[in-house]
Amino acid sequence: MFSPRIDRMEESLTIAMTQKARELKEAGREVLSFSAGEPDFDTPRAVKEAAIAAIEAGFGKYTAVAGIPELLEAIAGKLKRENNLSYPTKNIVVSNGAKHSLFNLFAVLLSRGNEVVIPAPTWVSYPEMVRYHGGEPVFVQTKESNGFKMTPEQLEAAITPKTHIVMLNSPSNPTGAVYTREEYAALGKVLEGTDILVFSDEMYEKLVYDVTFTALASVSEDLYHRTITINGLSKSVAMTGWRMGYFATADATIAAAVNKLQSQMTSNVCSIVQKASLPALDGSVDEEVEQMRRIFQKRRDLAAHLINQIEGLHVVKPDGAFYLYVNCQAVEPDSMKFALSLLEQMGVAVVPGCGFEMEGYVRLSFATSEDVIERGIEKMAQFVKGYKK
Ligand SMILES: Cc1ncc(COP(=O)(O)O)c(C=O)c1O
Repeated sequence: MFSPRIDRMEESLTIAMTQKARELKEAGREVLSFSAGEPDFDTPRAVKEAAIAAIEAGFGKYTAVAGIPELLEAIAGKLKRENNLSYPTKNIVVSNGAKHSLFNLFAVLLSRGNEVVIPAPTWVSYPEMVRYHGGEPVFVQTKESNGFKMTPEQLEAAITPKTHIVMLNSPSNPTGAVYTREEYAALGKVLEGTDILVFSDEMYEKLVYDVTFTALASVSEDLYHRTITINGLSKSVAMTGWRMGYFATADATIAAAVNKLQSQMTSNVCSIVQKASLPALDGSVDEEVEQMRRIFQKRRDLAAHLINQIEGLHVVKPDGAFYLYVNCQAVEPDSMKFALSLLEQMGVAVVPGCGFEMEGYVRLSFATSEDVIERGIEKMAQFVKGYKK
């Protein structure tokens, strides 16, 4: 009955763990959750006010599929101001979250058998989307000792005549790794002379600690032309539920193809959300975003310090995003077993690394209070101490 496409795809593991934690909570257990993939902050006031004003003004009709002109202008303005990238507005499409942008892009660009190089550990959705569209994920196993970053040699070795896209994500979910300009330039050199495209998922751009964020497309002329920059407001402006994502490309035909697809599928993103996104892009909420970033940094320092005090666990302190990718190999190399036992015995929810294509690790989100971080990691310490394989 079902199409082979849907059978190739698996359910999101992060969502499955959140669901399990919810069930325990409903049964009356206290659950300390490190599984959330979203900021625990409220959306900035200016965004809410813009949404209310749009509702009051009756801005409730269909809009242009790719987004209202002022929103596309605001995105182009943000890319210029913050990333030194120039795109005509016709090269930008707004979708229902970056997830939707990515799905659309794979849909219009992948043919059966195309290979997509994905450094692992990776965000769970990339390989599933690739498989759904008939492509083949080719995983590059990065090394913890290299900060979970793909080297130019690894990229070169992964490329075959079937390679169509390289998927990059910095700051990374799940490791928090942030590529430097030099590292990007070295990866870019490997691609020169090929017609390989690069998707650069820059969702966690605003959440970097002690390092500078680099937009991949800004690194060289060659990278500008082959890179599709994907971004959105979910993580940077605490707007996960609003569903606002976008991409920008140097190739207007890619934007036109996505526009055509989206016109037959979802049409425009909610008109109110489009208006509400304007202050989130023009610099009006920069102060709130910076406050959130500082709080995340404090939590990162606390959580990484506490984890590294537990004998048997260790973590590379991440440079960005809000996740710790904790090595649990000395305790239990099977991450699913580790995560399920931890949840059942201690009521602490983490996400097993097997879902991110690198075993022997669990992901902890520090998008939660210091109290939860302290109590949850204390319970993890007890769990590890008493753990019997
Ligand atoms: C790396 C990465 N990209 C994209 C997304 C999707 O974001 P959005 O809420 O805009 O669909 C997420 C969300 O978890 C993510 O972690």
